[in-house]
Amino acid sequence: MGEKNLANPPIDPQQTAAWKRLADLQKNMEVDFRTWFSQDPQRAQKFTFRAGDLFVDLSKSYLTDEVKEALLELAAEVKVAQRRDAMFAGEVINVTEQRSVLHTALRRPAGDTLEVGGVEVVAQVHSVLERIYDFARKVRSGQWVGITGKPLTTIVNIGIGGSDLGPVMAYEALRPYVQPGLDCRFISNIDPTDVGETLRDVDPERVLFIIASKTFTTLETLTNARQARNWFLTQLQQAGISTTGAVAKHFVAVSTNLEKVAEFGIDPQNAFGFWDWVGGRYSVDSAVGTALAIAIGPENFAEFLAGFHAIDKHFCTSPVEENVPLLMGLLNVFYCNFWKAATHAVLPYAQYLHRFPAYLQQLTMESNGKRVRWDGTPCTTTTGEVFWGEPGTNGQHAFYQLIHQGTQLIPADFIAFANPTFPLKDGAQDQHELFLGNFFAQTKALAFGKTESEVRAEGTTEEIVTARVFPGNKPTVSIMAPALTPSVLGQLIALYEHITFVQGVVWGIDSFDQWGVELGKQMAKELTAAVAGDREEIARQDSSTRSLIEYYQEERRRS
Ligand code: F6P
Repeated sequence: MGEKNLANPPIDPQQTAAWKRLADLQKNMEVDFRTWFSQDPQRAQKFTFRAGDLFVDLSKSYLTDEVKEALLELAAEVKVAQRRDAMFAGEVINVTEQRSVLHTALRRPAGDTLEVGGVEVVAQVHSVLERIYDFARKVRSGQWVGITGKPLTTIVNIGIGGSDLGPVMAYEALRPYVQPGLDCRFISNIDPTDVGETLRDVDPERVLFIIASKTFTTLETLTNARQARNWFLTQLQQAGISTTGAVAKHFVAVSTNLEKVAEFGIDPQNAFGFWDWVGGRYSVDSAVGTALAIAIGPENFAEFLAGFHAIDKHFCTSPVEENVPLLMGLLNVFYCNFWKAATHAVLPYAQYLHRFPAYLQQLTMESNGKRVRWDGTPCTTTTGEVFWGEPGTNGQHAFYQLIHQGTQLIPADFIAFANPTFPLKDGAQDQHELFLGNFFAQTKALAFGKTESEVRAEGTTEEIVTARVFPGNKPTVSIMAPALTPSVLGQLIALYEHITFVQGVVWGIDSFDQWGVELGKQMAKELTAAVAGDREEIARQDSSTRSLIEYYQEERRRS
Protein backbone atom coordinates (compact mmCIF):
# COMPACT_ATOMS: atom_id res chain seq x y z
CA MET A 1 0.00 0.00 0.00
CA GLY A 2 1.18 3.56 -0.65
CA GLU A 3 4.30 4.86 -2.38
CA LYS A 4 7.83 3.54 -1.99
CA ASN A 5 9.98 5.75 0.17
CA LEU A 6 13.44 4.57 -0.95
CA ALA A 7 14.05 7.90 -2.66
CA ASN A 8 14.36 9.44 0.77
CA PRO A 9 17.73 8.35 2.17
CA PRO A 10 18.50 8.94 5.84
CA ILE A 11 20.49 12.04 6.64
CA ASP A 12 23.57 11.39 8.75
CA PRO A 13 22.89 13.44 11.90
CA GLN A 14 26.61 13.70 12.59
CA GLN A 15 27.11 15.63 9.37
CA THR A 16 24.60 18.31 10.33
CA ALA A 17 25.58 21.74 11.60
CA ALA A 18 23.24 21.24 14.55
CA TRP A 19 25.10 18.09 15.68
CA LYS A 20 28.38 20.01 15.83
CA ARG A 21 26.68 22.81 17.69
CA LEU A 22 25.18 20.37 20.17
CA ALA A 23 28.58 18.75 20.71
CA ASP A 24 30.08 22.16 21.51
CA LEU A 25 27.20 23.08 23.76
CA GLN A 26 27.47 19.82 25.65
CA LYS A 27 31.25 20.16 26.05
CA ASN A 28 30.92 23.57 27.60
CA MET A 29 27.73 22.95 29.52
CA GLU A 30 27.82 23.25 33.26
CA VAL A 31 24.54 21.83 34.38
CA ASP A 32 23.57 23.64 37.54
CA PHE A 33 19.87 23.55 38.25
CA ARG A 34 20.23 25.67 41.38
CA THR A 35 21.76 28.51 39.38
CA TRP A 36 19.55 27.99 36.33
CA PHE A 37 16.39 28.26 38.40
CA SER A 38 17.57 31.14 40.56
CA GLN A 39 18.83 33.17 37.60
CA ASP A 40 15.72 32.58 35.55
CA PRO A 41 12.52 32.75 37.61
CA GLN A 42 10.61 31.97 34.41
CA ARG A 43 12.44 28.70 33.75
CA ALA A 44 9.55 26.46 34.84
CA GLN A 45 7.00 28.39 32.77
CA LYS A 46 9.35 28.63 29.80
CA PHE A 47 9.92 24.89 29.60
CA THR A 48 6.48 23.62 30.57
CA PHE A 49 4.17 22.65 27.73
CA ARG A 50 0.71 21.24 27.27
CA ALA A 51 -0.23 18.47 24.88
CA GLY A 52 -3.89 17.51 25.07
CA ASP A 53 -4.55 16.98 28.80
CA LEU A 54 -0.87 16.40 29.54
CA PHE A 55 1.05 19.01 31.51
CA VAL A 56 4.69 18.40 30.70
CA ASP A 57 7.46 20.05 32.67
CA LEU A 58 10.84 19.92 30.92
CA SER A 59 12.41 22.55 33.15
CA LYS A 60 14.37 19.98 35.18
CA SER A 61 15.89 18.63 31.96
CA TYR A 62 19.12 19.73 30.28
CA LEU A 63 17.24 22.15 28.03
CA THR A 64 18.57 25.66 27.75
CA ASP A 65 17.51 28.18 25.14
CA GLU A 66 20.55 27.32 23.06
CA VAL A 67 20.19 23.57 23.43
CA LYS A 68 16.53 23.78 22.50
CA GLU A 69 17.33 25.83 19.44
CA ALA A 70 20.09 23.44 18.33
CA LEU A 71 17.87 20.38 18.88
CA LEU A 72 15.14 21.95 16.77
CA GLU A 73 17.72 22.75 14.11
CA LEU A 74 18.75 19.10 14.16
CA ALA A 75 15.12 18.05 13.67
CA ALA A 76 14.87 20.39 10.70
CA GLU A 77 18.15 19.19 9.20
CA VAL A 78 17.23 15.50 9.40
CA LYS A 79 13.70 16.34 8.18
CA VAL A 80 11.63 14.98 11.04
CA ALA A 81 8.55 16.90 9.91
CA GLN A 82 8.75 15.55 6.35
CA ARG A 83 9.03 11.99 7.59
CA ARG A 84 6.19 12.52 10.07
CA ASP A 85 4.00 13.78 7.22
CA ALA A 86 5.04 10.83 5.07
CA MET A 87 4.03 8.46 7.87
CA PHE A 88 0.64 10.08 8.43
CA ALA A 89 0.01 10.08 4.66
CA GLY A 90 0.62 6.34 4.36
CA GLU A 91 3.90 6.40 2.45
CA VAL A 92 5.98 3.24 2.64
CA ILE A 93 8.38 4.37 5.36
CA ASN A 94 8.82 0.82 6.70
CA VAL A 95 11.11 0.01 3.81
CA THR A 96 12.54 -3.34 4.94
CA GLU A 97 9.02 -4.76 5.03
CA GLN A 98 7.73 -2.53 2.21
CA ARG A 99 4.83 -1.25 4.31
CA SER A 100 3.04 1.94 5.17
CA VAL A 101 2.98 2.83 8.86
CA LEU A 102 -0.52 3.91 9.68
CA HIS A 103 -1.31 3.22 13.32
CA THR A 104 -2.33 6.87 13.45
CA ALA A 105 -5.21 6.03 11.07
CA LEU A 106 -6.63 3.67 13.72
CA ARG A 107 -7.67 6.61 15.85
CA ARG A 108 -8.92 9.02 13.25
CA PRO A 109 -12.54 9.97 13.89
CA ALA A 110 -15.29 8.53 11.70
CA GLY A 111 -15.86 10.79 8.75
CA ASP A 112 -12.16 11.63 8.34
CA THR A 113 -10.77 10.52 5.03
CA LEU A 114 -7.41 9.04 4.15
CA GLU A 115 -6.99 7.32 0.84
CA VAL A 116 -3.90 5.20 0.52
CA GLY A 117 -3.26 3.08 -2.57
CA GLY A 118 -6.87 3.52 -3.70
CA VAL A 119 -8.30 2.33 -0.35
CA GLU A 120 -10.28 4.54 2.02
CA VAL A 121 -8.45 3.59 5.19
CA VAL A 122 -10.51 5.41 7.84
CA ALA A 123 -13.78 3.91 6.59
CA GLN A 124 -12.15 0.46 6.74
CA VAL A 125 -10.96 1.10 10.30
CA HIS A 126 -14.40 2.20 11.46
CA SER A 127 -16.18 -0.72 9.87
CA VAL A 128 -14.02 -3.12 11.95
CA LEU A 129 -14.45 -0.93 15.03
CA GLU A 130 -18.23 -1.13 14.66
CA ARG A 131 -18.03 -4.96 14.53
CA ILE A 132 -15.84 -4.98 17.65
CA TYR A 133 -18.19 -2.62 19.47
CA ASP A 134 -21.19 -4.70 18.48
CA PHE A 135 -19.50 -7.86 19.75
CA ALA A 136 -18.37 -6.10 22.95
CA ARG A 137 -21.93 -4.93 23.64
CA LYS A 138 -23.25 -8.47 23.20
CA VAL A 139 -20.67 -9.97 25.56
CA ARG A 140 -21.12 -7.23 28.15
CA SER A 141 -24.92 -7.48 28.12
CA GLY A 142 -24.94 -11.28 28.25
CA GLN A 143 -26.59 -11.50 24.83
CA TRP A 144 -23.59 -13.49 23.56
CA VAL A 145 -23.75 -16.73 25.51
CA GLY A 146 -21.64 -19.86 25.72
CA ILE A 147 -22.52 -23.42 24.76
CA THR A 148 -24.70 -23.95 27.84
CA GLY A 149 -26.47 -20.59 27.51
CA LYS A 150 -24.49 -18.80 30.20
CA PRO A 151 -23.03 -15.29 29.71
CA LEU A 152 -19.26 -15.15 29.22
CA THR A 153 -17.57 -13.39 32.12
CA THR A 154 -13.91 -14.40 31.89
CA ILE A 155 -12.07 -13.09 28.85
CA VAL A 156 -8.73 -14.81 28.19
CA ASN A 157 -6.52 -13.00 25.69
CA ILE A 158 -3.85 -15.25 24.21
CA GLY A 159 -1.12 -13.31 22.41
CA ILE A 160 2.47 -12.18 22.90
CA GLY A 161 4.52 -9.01 22.33
CA GLY A 162 2.27 -6.35 20.88
CA SER A 163 -0.67 -8.75 20.93
CA ASP A 164 -0.35 -8.98 24.72
CA LEU A 165 1.56 -6.08 26.25
CA GLY A 166 -0.77 -3.35 24.99
CA PRO A 167 -4.03 -5.05 26.03
CA VAL A 168 -2.70 -6.15 29.44
CA MET A 169 -1.13 -2.77 30.20
CA ALA A 170 -4.29 -0.87 29.22
CA TYR A 171 -6.58 -3.31 31.04
CA GLU A 172 -4.54 -2.89 34.22
CA ALA A 173 -4.42 0.89 33.77
CA LEU A 174 -8.16 1.21 33.28
CA ARG A 175 -9.40 -1.27 35.88
CA PRO A 176 -11.80 1.27 37.41
CA TYR A 177 -13.59 1.36 34.04
CA VAL A 178 -13.98 -2.42 33.77
CA GLN A 179 -17.59 -3.65 33.94
CA PRO A 180 -18.15 -5.32 37.33
CA GLY A 181 -18.40 -9.08 36.92
CA LEU A 182 -16.04 -9.16 33.94
CA ASP A 183 -12.52 -10.42 34.39
CA CYS A 184 -9.73 -10.37 31.78
CA ARG A 185 -6.71 -12.64 31.90
CA PHE A 186 -3.72 -12.78 29.62
CA ILE A 187 -1.65 -15.73 28.48
CA SER A 188 1.55 -14.98 26.60
CA ASN A 189 4.54 -17.05 27.69
CA ILE A 190 5.24 -20.43 26.09
CA ASP A 191 6.23 -21.61 29.57
CA PRO A 192 3.41 -24.11 30.18
CA THR A 193 3.00 -22.56 33.60
CA ASP A 194 1.33 -19.52 32.02
CA VAL A 195 -1.51 -21.38 30.36
CA GLY A 196 -1.75 -23.94 33.18
CA GLU A 197 -1.89 -21.42 36.00
CA THR A 198 -4.18 -18.94 34.21
CA LEU A 199 -6.82 -21.53 33.36
CA ARG A 200 -6.69 -23.36 36.69
CA ASP A 201 -9.86 -21.82 38.14
CA VAL A 202 -11.65 -20.77 34.94
CA ASP A 203 -15.23 -21.90 34.38
CA PRO A 204 -15.29 -23.37 30.84
CA GLU A 205 -18.98 -22.52 30.43
CA ARG A 206 -18.27 -18.81 30.98
CA VAL A 207 -14.96 -18.28 29.23
CA LEU A 208 -14.24 -16.36 26.03
CA PHE A 209 -10.84 -16.89 24.42
CA ILE A 210 -9.46 -14.16 22.18
CA ILE A 211 -6.56 -15.46 20.11
CA ALA A 212 -4.65 -12.33 19.16
CA SER A 213 -1.85 -12.57 16.64
CA LYS A 214 -1.10 -10.23 13.79
CA THR A 215 0.52 -13.00 11.74
CA PHE A 216 -1.31 -15.95 13.31
CA THR A 217 1.94 -17.89 12.96
CA THR A 218 3.59 -17.03 16.28
CA LEU A 219 4.76 -20.21 17.98
CA GLU A 220 3.89 -19.14 21.53
CA THR A 221 0.40 -17.92 20.68
CA LEU A 222 -0.59 -20.85 18.51
CA THR A 223 0.78 -23.38 21.00
CA ASN A 224 -1.06 -21.72 23.89
CA ALA A 225 -4.22 -21.40 21.77
CA ARG A 226 -4.14 -25.12 21.00
CA GLN A 227 -3.60 -25.90 24.69
CA ALA A 228 -6.52 -23.65 25.60
CA ARG A 229 -8.77 -25.34 23.03
CA ASN A 230 -7.75 -28.83 24.30
CA TRP A 231 -8.35 -27.76 27.89
CA PHE A 232 -11.72 -26.26 26.98
CA LEU A 233 -13.00 -29.28 25.05
CA THR A 234 -11.76 -31.71 27.70
CA GLN A 235 -13.48 -29.73 30.45
CA LEU A 236 -16.78 -29.80 28.54
CA GLN A 237 -16.48 -33.51 27.81
CA GLN A 238 -15.71 -34.29 31.43
CA ALA A 239 -18.83 -32.35 32.45
CA GLY A 240 -20.89 -34.30 29.91
CA ILE A 241 -21.55 -31.21 27.78
CA SER A 242 -21.72 -31.57 23.99
CA THR A 243 -18.77 -29.88 22.28
CA THR A 244 -20.56 -29.39 18.96
CA GLY A 245 -20.41 -25.71 18.03
CA ALA A 246 -18.65 -24.86 21.30
CA VAL A 247 -15.47 -23.42 19.76
CA ALA A 248 -17.49 -20.97 17.68
CA LYS A 249 -19.17 -19.61 20.80
CA HIS A 250 -16.07 -19.47 23.00
CA PHE A 251 -13.19 -18.61 20.63
CA VAL A 252 -12.67 -15.48 18.55
CA ALA A 253 -9.56 -14.29 16.76
CA VAL A 254 -7.81 -11.02 16.08
CA SER A 255 -5.44 -11.07 13.13
CA THR A 256 -4.39 -9.72 9.77
CA ASN A 257 -4.24 -13.32 8.50
CA LEU A 258 -7.79 -14.62 8.22
CA GLU A 259 -6.69 -17.70 6.23
CA LYS A 260 -4.58 -18.92 9.13
CA VAL A 261 -7.44 -18.12 11.52
CA ALA A 262 -9.68 -20.47 9.51
CA GLU A 263 -6.93 -23.12 9.43
CA PHE A 264 -6.82 -23.00 13.22
CA GLY A 265 -10.55 -23.73 13.30
CA ILE A 266 -11.99 -20.33 14.16
CA ASP A 267 -14.76 -19.15 11.89
CA PRO A 268 -13.51 -15.97 10.11
CA GLN A 269 -16.95 -14.53 10.94
CA ASN A 270 -15.69 -14.54 14.52
CA ALA A 271 -12.47 -12.77 13.64
CA PHE A 272 -11.62 -9.09 13.84
CA GLY A 273 -9.11 -7.98 11.27
CA PHE A 274 -6.48 -5.33 11.02
CA TRP A 275 -3.86 -4.50 8.45
CA ASP A 276 -0.17 -5.05 7.73
CA TRP A 277 0.39 -1.31 8.17
CA VAL A 278 -0.16 -1.67 11.93
CA GLY A 279 2.99 -2.82 13.72
CA GLY A 280 2.44 -5.24 16.62
CA ARG A 281 3.77 -2.78 19.20
CA TYR A 282 1.54 -0.05 17.76
CA SER A 283 -1.60 -2.17 17.73
CA VAL A 284 -3.39 -1.75 21.07
CA ASP A 285 -5.73 0.71 19.38
CA SER A 286 -6.61 -1.80 16.64
CA ALA A 287 -8.66 -5.01 16.96
CA VAL A 288 -5.84 -6.17 19.26
CA GLY A 289 -7.65 -4.08 21.86
CA THR A 290 -10.79 -6.25 21.63
CA ALA A 291 -10.41 -7.64 25.18
CA LEU A 292 -10.07 -4.07 26.42
CA ALA A 293 -13.09 -2.90 24.41
CA ILE A 294 -15.17 -5.65 26.02
CA ALA A 295 -13.85 -4.87 29.49
CA ILE A 296 -14.26 -1.08 29.47
CA GLY A 297 -17.02 -0.84 26.85
CA PRO A 298 -17.23 0.81 23.42
CA GLU A 299 -17.76 4.36 24.76
CA ASN A 300 -14.64 4.24 26.89
CA PHE A 301 -12.68 2.56 24.10
CA ALA A 302 -13.73 5.39 21.77
CA GLU A 303 -12.45 7.86 24.39
CA PHE A 304 -9.18 5.93 24.50
CA LEU A 305 -8.83 6.33 20.72
CA ALA A 306 -9.76 10.00 20.93
CA GLY A 307 -6.88 10.46 23.38
CA PHE A 308 -4.38 9.04 20.88
CA HIS A 309 -5.82 11.28 18.19
CA ALA A 310 -5.47 14.42 20.32
CA ILE A 311 -1.72 13.79 20.59
CA ASP A 312 -1.46 12.92 16.88
CA LYS A 313 -2.96 16.32 16.14
CA HIS A 314 -0.63 18.01 18.60
CA PHE A 315 2.37 16.26 17.00
CA CYS A 316 1.32 17.30 13.50
CA THR A 317 0.12 20.82 14.10
CA SER A 318 1.65 22.42 17.17
CA PRO A 319 4.66 24.71 16.61
CA VAL A 320 8.00 22.95 16.97
CA GLU A 321 8.92 25.10 19.99
CA GLU A 322 5.95 23.65 21.91
CA ASN A 323 5.73 20.24 20.32
CA VAL A 324 6.04 17.86 23.25
CA PRO A 325 6.80 14.53 21.47
CA LEU A 326 9.31 16.35 19.27
CA LEU A 327 11.05 18.03 22.21
CA MET A 328 11.08 14.87 24.33
CA GLY A 329 12.39 12.75 21.46
CA LEU A 330 15.14 15.27 20.75
CA LEU A 331 16.03 15.50 24.43
CA ASN A 332 16.41 11.73 24.53
CA VAL A 333 18.80 11.98 21.59
CA PHE A 334 20.74 14.66 23.46
CA TYR A 335 21.07 12.41 26.52
CA CYS A 336 21.84 9.27 24.56
CA ASN A 337 24.33 10.65 22.06
CA PHE A 338 25.89 13.62 23.83
CA TRP A 339 25.62 12.67 27.51
CA LYS A 340 26.17 8.93 26.86
CA ALA A 341 23.10 7.92 28.82
CA ALA A 342 22.60 4.23 28.11
CA THR A 343 19.28 3.85 29.88
CA HIS A 344 16.11 5.84 30.47
CA ALA A 345 13.78 5.30 33.40
CA VAL A 346 10.01 5.73 33.21
CA LEU A 347 8.51 6.00 36.67
CA PRO A 348 4.73 6.17 36.89
CA TYR A 349 3.35 7.36 40.21
CA ALA A 350 0.19 5.37 39.55
CA GLN A 351 -0.20 1.78 40.62
CA TYR A 352 -2.57 1.18 37.71
CA LEU A 353 0.32 1.91 35.32
CA HIS A 354 2.42 -0.91 36.71
CA ARG A 355 2.74 -2.57 33.26
CA PHE A 356 3.45 0.71 31.46
CA PRO A 357 7.27 0.39 31.60
CA ALA A 358 7.06 -3.18 30.22
CA TYR A 359 4.81 -1.95 27.43
CA LEU A 360 7.26 0.88 26.66
CA GLN A 361 10.15 -1.56 26.53
CA GLN A 362 8.70 -3.22 23.45
CA LEU A 363 7.60 0.07 21.93
CA THR A 364 10.97 1.77 22.28
CA MET A 365 13.48 -1.06 22.14
CA GLU A 366 11.92 -3.17 19.39
CA SER A 367 11.57 0.05 17.41
CA ASN A 368 14.95 1.68 17.89
CA GLY A 369 17.26 -1.17 18.90
CA LYS A 370 18.88 -1.16 15.45
CA ARG A 371 22.38 -0.87 14.04
CA VAL A 372 21.62 -0.17 10.39
CA ARG A 373 19.61 2.60 8.82
CA TRP A 374 16.59 2.41 6.57
CA ASP A 375 18.84 2.30 3.49
CA GLY A 376 20.84 -0.64 4.91
CA THR A 377 23.95 1.39 5.77
CA PRO A 378 25.36 1.34 9.33
CA CYS A 379 24.02 3.80 11.85
CA THR A 380 26.53 6.56 12.42
CA THR A 381 25.74 7.09 16.09
CA THR A 382 24.73 5.20 19.20
CA THR A 383 21.04 4.26 19.06
CA GLY A 384 18.33 2.86 21.29
CA GLU A 385 18.58 3.40 25.05
CA VAL A 386 17.35 0.73 27.44
CA PHE A 387 13.95 1.75 28.81
CA TRP A 388 12.95 0.44 32.20
CA GLY A 389 11.01 1.37 35.30
CA GLU A 390 8.66 0.49 38.10
CA PRO A 391 5.82 2.38 39.70
CA GLY A 392 6.65 4.88 42.40
CA THR A 393 7.06 4.68 45.34
CA ASN A 394 8.22 1.06 45.10
CA GLY A 395 11.20 2.08 43.00
CA GLN A 396 12.27 4.61 45.62
CA HIS A 397 13.00 1.76 48.02
CA ALA A 398 14.86 -0.24 45.42
CA PHE A 399 16.86 1.34 42.61
CA TYR A 400 16.52 5.13 43.09
CA GLN A 401 19.77 5.00 45.08
CA LEU A 402 21.66 4.54 41.83
CA ILE A 403 19.79 7.36 40.08
CA HIS A 404 20.54 9.77 42.95
CA GLN A 405 24.10 8.85 43.80
CA GLY A 406 25.42 6.42 41.18
CA THR A 407 28.03 7.25 38.57
CA GLN A 408 25.78 6.80 35.53
CA LEU A 409 23.47 9.45 34.17
CA ILE A 410 19.90 8.12 34.05
CA PRO A 411 17.33 10.52 32.61
CA ALA A 412 13.92 9.72 34.06
CA ASP A 413 10.32 10.51 33.18
CA PHE A 414 7.99 10.86 36.17
CA ILE A 415 4.25 10.48 35.55
CA ALA A 416 1.48 11.37 38.01
CA PHE A 417 -2.19 12.30 38.18
CA ALA A 418 -3.86 15.07 40.15
CA ASN A 419 -6.93 13.03 41.08
CA PRO A 420 -6.80 9.63 42.77
CA THR A 421 -9.15 6.74 42.03
CA PHE A 422 -9.36 6.02 45.74
CA PRO A 423 -9.52 9.27 47.74
CA LEU A 424 -8.41 7.63 50.97
CA LYS A 425 -7.56 9.36 54.22
CA ASP A 426 -5.22 8.24 56.97
CA GLY A 427 -6.65 10.24 59.83
CA ALA A 428 -6.57 13.81 58.56
CA GLN A 429 -3.94 12.92 55.98
CA ASP A 430 -5.10 12.53 52.37
CA GLN A 431 -3.08 9.52 51.15
CA HIS A 432 -2.90 10.80 47.58
CA GLU A 433 -1.24 13.98 48.87
CA LEU A 434 1.31 11.83 50.65
CA PHE A 435 1.89 9.99 47.37
CA LEU A 436 2.26 13.20 45.36
CA GLY A 437 4.56 14.60 48.03
CA ASN A 438 6.90 11.75 47.13
CA PHE A 439 6.50 12.39 43.40
CA PHE A 440 7.46 16.06 43.76
CA ALA A 441 10.23 15.28 46.25
CA GLN A 442 12.04 12.90 43.95
CA THR A 443 12.39 15.22 40.95
CA LYS A 444 13.33 18.06 43.30
CA ALA A 445 15.99 15.99 45.06
CA LEU A 446 17.35 14.73 41.75
CA ALA A 447 17.57 18.26 40.37
CA PHE A 448 18.85 20.22 43.36
CA GLY A 449 20.59 17.60 45.48
CA LYS A 450 22.22 18.35 48.82
CA THR A 451 25.66 19.93 49.13
CA GLU A 452 28.47 19.08 51.54
CA SER A 453 27.85 22.22 53.52
CA GLU A 454 24.17 21.39 53.83
CA VAL A 455 25.04 17.89 55.03
CA ARG A 456 27.51 19.31 57.57
CA ALA A 457 24.97 21.86 58.76
CA GLU A 458 22.77 18.94 59.78
CA GLY A 459 25.48 17.90 62.24
CA THR A 460 26.63 14.86 60.24
CA THR A 461 29.85 13.17 61.41
CA GLU A 462 32.68 14.27 59.12
CA GLU A 463 33.56 10.69 58.00
CA ILE A 464 30.20 10.15 56.37
CA VAL A 465 29.61 13.60 54.93
CA THR A 466 30.52 12.66 51.34
CA ALA A 467 28.37 9.52 51.47
CA ARG A 468 25.42 11.72 52.35
CA VAL A 469 25.93 14.29 49.62
CA PHE A 470 23.45 14.32 46.73
CA PRO A 471 25.12 15.72 43.63
CA GLY A 472 21.80 16.77 42.05
CA ASN A 473 21.65 17.96 38.44
CA LYS A 474 20.01 14.71 37.39
CA PRO A 475 17.63 15.32 34.48
CA THR A 476 13.94 14.47 34.76
CA VAL A 477 10.70 15.17 32.94
CA SER A 478 7.47 15.47 34.93
CA ILE A 479 4.25 14.56 33.16
CA MET A 480 0.98 15.25 34.95
CA ALA A 481 -2.66 14.93 33.94
CA PRO A 482 -5.99 15.45 35.69
CA ALA A 483 -6.70 11.71 36.10
CA LEU A 484 -5.90 8.34 34.56
CA THR A 485 -8.88 8.16 32.18
CA PRO A 486 -9.14 6.18 28.93
CA SER A 487 -8.42 9.35 26.98
CA VAL A 488 -5.37 10.26 29.08
CA LEU A 489 -3.99 6.73 28.70
CA GLY A 490 -4.37 7.02 24.92
CA GLN A 491 -2.57 10.37 25.07
CA LEU A 492 0.32 8.92 27.06
CA ILE A 493 0.77 6.00 24.67
CA ALA A 494 0.65 8.24 21.60
CA LEU A 495 3.16 10.59 23.24
CA TYR A 496 5.67 7.76 23.64
CA GLU A 497 4.96 6.41 20.14
CA HIS A 498 5.90 9.76 18.67
CA ILE A 499 8.92 10.25 20.95
CA THR A 500 10.17 6.89 19.66
CA PHE A 501 9.48 7.97 16.08
CA VAL A 502 11.44 11.22 16.46
CA GLN A 503 14.46 9.41 17.87
CA GLY A 504 14.29 6.87 15.03
CA VAL A 505 14.24 9.59 12.39
CA VAL A 506 17.28 11.34 13.87
CA TRP A 507 19.18 8.06 13.86
CA GLY A 508 17.96 7.15 10.36
CA ILE A 509 16.29 3.98 11.65
CA ASP A 510 13.32 2.07 10.27
CA SER A 511 11.53 2.03 13.63
CA PHE A 512 8.82 -0.29 12.33
CA ASP A 513 10.60 -3.55 11.53
CA GLN A 514 11.99 -6.07 14.04
CA TRP A 515 14.38 -8.41 12.27
CA GLY A 516 16.39 -8.81 15.46
CA VAL A 517 13.80 -11.21 16.88
CA GLU A 518 14.09 -13.72 14.03
CA LEU A 519 17.36 -15.59 14.65
CA GLY A 520 16.34 -16.82 18.09
CA LYS A 521 12.97 -18.00 16.73
CA GLN A 522 14.69 -19.96 13.96
CA MET A 523 17.21 -21.53 16.34
CA ALA A 524 14.47 -22.43 18.83
CA LYS A 525 12.93 -24.72 16.21
CA GLU A 526 16.21 -26.61 15.68
CA LEU A 527 16.98 -26.71 19.38
CA THR A 528 13.57 -28.05 20.32
CA ALA A 529 14.46 -31.20 18.36
CA ALA A 530 17.77 -31.41 20.22
CA VAL A 531 16.05 -30.96 23.58
CA ALA A 532 13.67 -33.79 22.64
CA GLY A 533 16.71 -36.05 22.16
CA ASP A 534 17.57 -35.87 18.42
CA ARG A 535 21.18 -37.12 18.61
CA GLU A 536 22.28 -35.58 15.31
CA GLU A 537 20.87 -32.22 16.29
CA ILE A 538 22.60 -32.44 19.71
CA ALA A 539 25.91 -33.28 18.03
CA ARG A 540 25.61 -30.21 15.80
CA GLN A 541 25.53 -27.86 18.80
CA ASP A 542 28.41 -25.83 20.23
CA SER A 543 29.87 -27.31 23.40
CA SER A 544 28.12 -24.88 25.75
CA THR A 545 24.64 -25.47 24.29
CA ARG A 546 25.32 -29.23 24.16
CA SER A 547 26.31 -29.40 27.81
CA LEU A 548 23.25 -27.37 28.87
CA ILE A 549 20.97 -29.74 26.95
CA GLU A 550 22.72 -32.74 28.48
CA TYR A 551 22.26 -31.25 31.96
CA TYR A 552 18.54 -30.85 31.22
CA GLN A 553 18.21 -34.42 29.97
CA GLU A 554 20.06 -35.80 32.99
CA GLU A 555 17.79 -33.86 35.39
CA ARG A 556 14.62 -35.02 33.60
CA ARG A 557 15.84 -38.63 33.74
CA ARG A 558 16.46 -38.27 37.47
CA SER A 559 13.03 -36.82 38.29
O1 F6P B 1 8.66 -11.56 17.52
C1 F6P B 1 8.33 -10.23 17.69
C2 F6P B 1 6.93 -9.96 17.27
O2 F6P B 1 6.83 -10.06 15.91
C3 F6P B 1 6.43 -8.62 17.76
O3 F6P B 1 6.82 -7.58 16.96
C4 F6P B 1 4.96 -8.86 17.80
O4 F6P B 1 4.29 -7.88 18.56
C5 F6P B 1 4.93 -10.23 18.43
O5 F6P B 1 6.02 -10.90 17.85
C6 F6P B 1 3.67 -11.02 18.22
O6 F6P B 1 3.41 -11.19 16.86
P1 F6P B 1 1.99 -11.65 16.37
O7 F6P B 1 1.00 -10.61 16.78
O8 F6P B 1 2.11 -11.78 14.89
O9 F6P B 1 1.67 -12.97 17.02
